[in-house]
Amino acid sequence: MQQRLYFQEVATRDGFQNEATFIETADKIALIDELSQCGYAKIEVTSFTSPKAIPALRDAEAVMHGISRNPEVEYTVLVPNVRGAERALACAIDEANLVMSVSESHNRANLRMTRERSFEQLREVVQVIGQSPVAVNVSLSTVFGCPMEGDITDDEVLRWVERFAELNVRGVTLCDTTGMAYPSQVERLCRQVRARFPQLQLTLHFHNTRGMAQANVLAAIAAGIDRFDASLGGLGGCPYAPGASGNACTEDLLHMLDLMGYDTGIDLSRLLGVAARLPALVGHEVPSQVLRAGRRLDLHPVPAHVNSMDKQVAVSAGITQGASQ
Ligand code: COA
Ligand code: ZN
Repeated sequence: MQQRLYFQEVATRDGFQNEATFIETADKIALIDELSQCGYAKIEVTSFTSPKAIPALRDAEAVMHGISRNPEVEYTVLVPNVRGAERALACAIDEANLVMSVSESHNRANLRMTRERSFEQLREVVQVIGQSPVAVNVSLSTVFGCPMEGDITDDEVLRWVERFAELNVRGVTLCDTTGMAYPSQVERLCRQVRARFPQLQLTLHFHNTRGMAQANVLAAIAAGIDRFDASLGGLGGCPYAPGASGNACTEDLLHMLDLMGYDTGIDLSRLLGVAARLPALVGHEVPSQVLRAGRRLDLHPVPAHVNSMDKQVAVSAGITQGASQ
């Protein structure tokens, strides 16, 4: 039987938060409606952050209210504080994705507070959301390294996972915010987190900053992980992390995993059609490889000069044959 993997699209949150040009609300809604038909487990629609911190997503309410929901898909949003949770709950979200960093420096840069203060705020958020049927996921940033502090120890990561597990959140996402993760590290940490917290829905979130995202996904699968964030076109990046760049590209990943026989639930042809319209929407090329190169067996016609070369070969072969007779 094919192994099932679950995909969570983050282009409209992690991708769009980093775009210089504001993407029109109607365009965001149209894109999410198309993505809703592609077979995702979850879509991270937007974030309910301060519009001053992330102006690109200042239309969060309008987007959440405007989309057509597919009951097969969970709609999640990023929530940084109680104010964000209240705004998100008013939009009937399925899941709130809370965020903090396991690195003190990155947490201060991104969220403008200490990790301890973040944890206290997020504990309050969990309490507020706990009174509703909405699920809670916590995305832990810079788990595989911080661009300012370097490596974060496995014990430190496990300590933060444990603190949230004690709050009975449904899931935790281990985020490689700036593409510092490498496969053996990923496999080691994923095995430890799975073994210690079997009750948690675990997601891995990679960036392809140093070209290791696909290798890291395979390493995570080897450690038993079956849930991944990915971004259409490979858009994405944290505006408060030096050197951040695109997420693991959804269509590149699915192309590889389809070839390897995994069941991703996603209709790759349909998704490529949606991805093809992305450069026009964001106004620049996107880092997707498969969008540029086509699928592995998208074959090309043989060029005309090869046909004329064949004729020459046939003619010269005939002459040679004639001469030898
Ligand atoms: N939604 C809307 N507005 C919010 C808000 C929210 N969730 N949280 C704070 N604000 C507003 C406040 O009302 C205040 O507005 P004012 O200046 O008009 O009075 C302003 O933002 C500052 O509020 P404050 O409570 O002092 O927060 P802060 O400046 O310490 O910012 C965060 C804290 C977390 C809200 C902010 O840094 C943020 O949203 N960061 C974005 C993080 C992010 O998404 N990063 C990328 C993804 S990892
Ligand atoms: Zn990210």
